[in-house]
Amino acid sequence: MTPNNELMEGLIESMSLNEKLGQLTMIRADFGDAGAELGVAKLAQIRAGLAGSILDLRGLKNLEDGQRAAVEMSRLRIPLLFTLDVLHGYDTIFPIPLGEAAAFDPCVWQQTARVAAAEAAAEGIALTFAPMLDVARDPRWGRIAESPGEDPFVGARFAEAKVRGFQQGDLSQGATLAATAKHFAGYGAVTAGRDYASADIAPRTLEEVHLPPFAAAVRAGVAAIMPAFVDLAGEPLTAHRGMLDGVLRRRWAFDGVIVSDFCAVRELIVHGVASDAVEAAALALNAGVDIDMESGVYLEGLPEALARGLVSHDQIDAAVRRVLMLKARLGLFDKPFERGSRPVSSNQRQQHRSLALEAARKSIVLLQNRNGLLPLKGIGHLAVAGPLANAARDMLGPWHAAGNAKETVSFLNGIKKALPGWRITDDASPGAAREADAILLCIGESASQCGEATSRARPGIPDEQRKLAEDVFNLGKPVIVALTSGRPLIDPWLFEKADAVLATWYLGSEAGAALAGILTGAANPSGKLPVTWPHDAGQIPIFYAQRPTGRPAKPDEHDTSKYLDVPVGPQFPFGHGLSFTRFVYGSPQASSKTIRHGERLLVEAEVKNVGDVAGEETAFLFIRDPVASVARPLLELKGFTKISLAPGMTGKVRFELTADDLAFPGADGEPRLEAGEVQILVGPSASRDRLKSCSVWVVLDQA
Ligand code: NOJ
Repeated sequence: MTPNNELMEGLIESMSLNEKLGQLTMIRADFGDAGAELGVAKLAQIRAGLAGSILDLRGLKNLEDGQRAAVEMSRLRIPLLFTLDVLHGYDTIFPIPLGEAAAFDPCVWQQTARVAAAEAAAEGIALTFAPMLDVARDPRWGRIAESPGEDPFVGARFAEAKVRGFQQGDLSQGATLAATAKHFAGYGAVTAGRDYASADIAPRTLEEVHLPPFAAAVRAGVAAIMPAFVDLAGEPLTAHRGMLDGVLRRRWAFDGVIVSDFCAVRELIVHGVASDAVEAAALALNAGVDIDMESGVYLEGLPEALARGLVSHDQIDAAVRRVLMLKARLGLFDKPFERGSRPVSSNQRQQHRSLALEAARKSIVLLQNRNGLLPLKGIGHLAVAGPLANAARDMLGPWHAAGNAKETVSFLNGIKKALPGWRITDDASPGAAREADAILLCIGESASQCGEATSRARPGIPDEQRKLAEDVFNLGKPVIVALTSGRPLIDPWLFEKADAVLATWYLGSEAGAALAGILTGAANPSGKLPVTWPHDAGQIPIFYAQRPTGRPAKPDEHDTSKYLDVPVGPQFPFGHGLSFTRFVYGSPQASSKTIRHGERLLVEAEVKNVGDVAGEETAFLFIRDPVASVARPLLELKGFTKISLAPGMTGKVRFELTADDLAFPGADGEPRLEAGEVQILVGPSASRDRLKSCSVWVVLDQA
């Protein structure tokens, strides 16, 4: 039975302190030879009511045994909450988030989350630690792979799509996962891209860059939020009252669950803000953390914290209430075994694979295509070389849940299957490759080189692969590089040498089939970069939304904002991505020359496909406020949309802008709409010379 408010209060009243702290405690599965399981001690802990949620347990039977221990053998029979990192698929693996962001397709983002939820829920999982919404502008940071990239507007759209996809509006209907927006907030800005390091972010940057995706997730009804491991200017987010209680609870009225990151409550001691478990527990609870993931500090420290008056019974009850409400919303009180009772049918699995193929195709970014080498024409013999050519496991990327390498199409296998008439060889030795008409070089990072704790000071092609690439280029054959990575790999040399380069991220279950479709031209690439691709690691952080300087870069003037040793510009701008056709943009037209508080504008621009094949284009709308009370970024993204056009066809892309979209935090931090010109720029990327513009004027009525 789902507890209504009265029943819920009765239940809370009947709980002992330890049972309450149990609900605030998440424990991790044990890992034995047979994989994840619940050992004797943890099952006893569950029966004693001292654990409310479980992390990383897998296998339907194991989950059922755990749930039985809770709902049949514990005193209060409160169901367990099973949790897992389901980031980009469960059985069917979709591209990593940075790759999927490149599709710029909120429908795909939402559908892949829906499918991931259905598959994970079928195995009994009820809550995922996704979406990851850290705005990431530093490719040294390995976790950029888990993020939707550098832009807050994209992050916000990604957040909404993922929350809707995972949660499906009604969490109780079984094929859903409660979503967790993480890591709140600013983790993407860790010092020098070093994982777990401190983040020091100006209030304006926090507000404009790092918070919007989380605000969007809260508006979309996200069930849970995870504070980041790190400190924000000295205050660990796990103990950050201003951020958790202030921003989340009070300003955004977030009434869901706040769940700590793994052992983050105990790590408050290592951070140097708590001297023992008692203080650590009190700091986290006082800031607003409801669930202590794995550190056991709530169970250990909160009784003493209560005795010392550091926390109150009311605070503990409030946290317990939020946890129980989440379980109720998930339908766990009514039907604790519902998740897990409805297996995914083979027909559904087939559909999930089709979606994986679509998402993978749309995520591939054609970075470079000299002399129109792609799609391949008149080629009978393709040599496929490199350590990632037949690396099914790597195609799954980091956090691949139940993803299975055996069911994953490697590049080599995908190409062989798609091109039965071709001679495909996978011998990269110069002797063998010399006979080929073209070479597909599959290089980049292995899946273990990206994700958490994989910071790299120089994120380039791994050294041993460089030698292979040199040998291949020296053959003088046309070379296509499939570049697999969870971040922009910085290697200008590669772009000088290769004829064609495709950013293939980690594409998931259908990686090889997706790549084959692009190589042959069966599919036309449409992915675009959700992150600026640096030319040199020394340019980091490099992102399109820079503010102006009083001394803009001028190559011939010494005292201007540039480097002596590397260019100012990136290798590829945000939004870059080629197609097998070409699109020409007309100038944008706004529905009105003026806009006032509360009004909206329509902006339209013509796009023409001037090439020979059909294609899909992502168009971007940026704004630029040339004169304001605080310097505004040179470009700010306010819209993106897709259009499919047959060859020779012209269509219109349409965007809607509200007056709020033109406002910004003033010097006092309060939102301001200022009178005057705002430029509207539409085009294929953040490259300024590819954008066409018009202006509108903000008019403020006199008070
Ligand atoms: C640590 C990671 O920072 C977080 O993203 C993840 O959800 C937890 N571990 C649980 O696996």
